[in-house]
Amino acid sequence: MSDIAPLFRPLSMGGLELPNRVLMAPLTRNRAHSDGTPKAMAEEYYHQRASAGLIITEATQVSPEGKGYLDTPGIHEDSHVAGWRRITETVHAAGGRIFLQLWHVGRISHTSLLPEGVVPVAPSAIRAKSQVFGTDGFVDVSEPRALEADELPRIVADYARAAARAKEAGFDGIEVHAANGYLLDQFLRDGSNRREDAYGGSAENRARLALEVTEAVASVWGADRVGIRLSPFGSFNDMSDSDPEATFGTIYRALDKLRLAYLHVVESFPGSDSGPDELAALERLRGLWTGTYIANGGFNATRAADWIARGRADAVSFGRPFIANPDLPERYQLGAGLTTPNEATFYGGGTEGYTDYPFRAQEAA
Ligand SMILES: Cc1cc2nc3c(=O)[nH]c(=O)nc-3n(C[C@H](O)[C@H](O)[C@H](O)COP(=O)(O)O)c2cc1C
Repeated sequence: MSDIAPLFRPLSMGGLELPNRVLMAPLTRNRAHSDGTPKAMAEEYYHQRASAGLIITEATQVSPEGKGYLDTPGIHEDSHVAGWRRITETVHAAGGRIFLQLWHVGRISHTSLLPEGVVPVAPSAIRAKSQVFGTDGFVDVSEPRALEADELPRIVADYARAAARAKEAGFDGIEVHAANGYLLDQFLRDGSNRREDAYGGSAENRARLALEVTEAVASVWGADRVGIRLSPFGSFNDMSDSDPEATFGTIYRALDKLRLAYLHVVESFPGSDSGPDELAALERLRGLWTGTYIANGGFNATRAADWIARGRADAVSFGRPFIANPDLPERYQLGAGLTTPNEATFYGGGTEGYTDYPFRAQEAA
């Protein structure tokens, strides 16, 4: 048992005391009402997982334009705030802590998911070789249009407004989603950003929008309640960069100055594990970060505890294990077996594969 003890050392973060370092990674489940209001079953889902050191919610769009998949939640309407408030209340009543992941999908969308006449927006008019889940199942993403420089303040304002809404909804903080090929990541990497203005070209310029958004959210919340998620080597959603270590070194250094709650790094993604060169580069990048560092991607309890013990990470977030094991920290602590998640029920549907995974106590009974 002692080898997993580091997972159960409390962690102070932004005035919050996390009782363990087994965090719940953001997980899109496509089970909101079609208008973006979380359904009642989400209250039970998050309540069941309140023993996580911290819950980071599924990605949640900051505006109608930021939506890219069917039945994902938003945080831009009163009904969204009311739905999320019920969730934060139930998590808090169970003794948990919950951050909202703020999302704008950028070019990863389809016109059928957007308001009439709106097309997906992107740093440059480059269509990703990627698909989204819409009303007719999986469809290729639509051709995006390049955002004009004078539209970017509006995007930053959308994040700031969403952050204020999240405060009304009773969250403990915000995670800015700048990973996995969505809008802020699209600006960061030169495979998707061919702009020639102050938001394109050099790594400093490509990092500008993510920094402006993070600063705007921090001005609402205080920097110590704002984290950010990055995926330096991720290729999901047709992402690429000619020099990822330089690009991400630039943004790590700039973000480090903001004294954020944490940096959350997707070190490896389902289906595309990082190779040895990438892991070495991720370790060098990690050395640039002086604040709280959350690692993610393909961890089990032993590996997570080892990373924490040697300072490679301060905490680890778990995605798929938390889908199928609502009481994941307890299972790790007791060395109990894990339930295998059913991929067929990851995205969309009802309570099956959502709130019906067993607790250990139920299994023992
Ligand atoms: C069903 C599913 C939904 C996901 N949704 C999100 C999301 O909304 N935001 C995000 O940043 N990552 C998302 N991810 C990525 C996970 O947060 C995580 O990075 C990935 O599952 C690897 O961690 P794991 O090996 O512990 O599952 C999702 C992954 C899965 C499997």
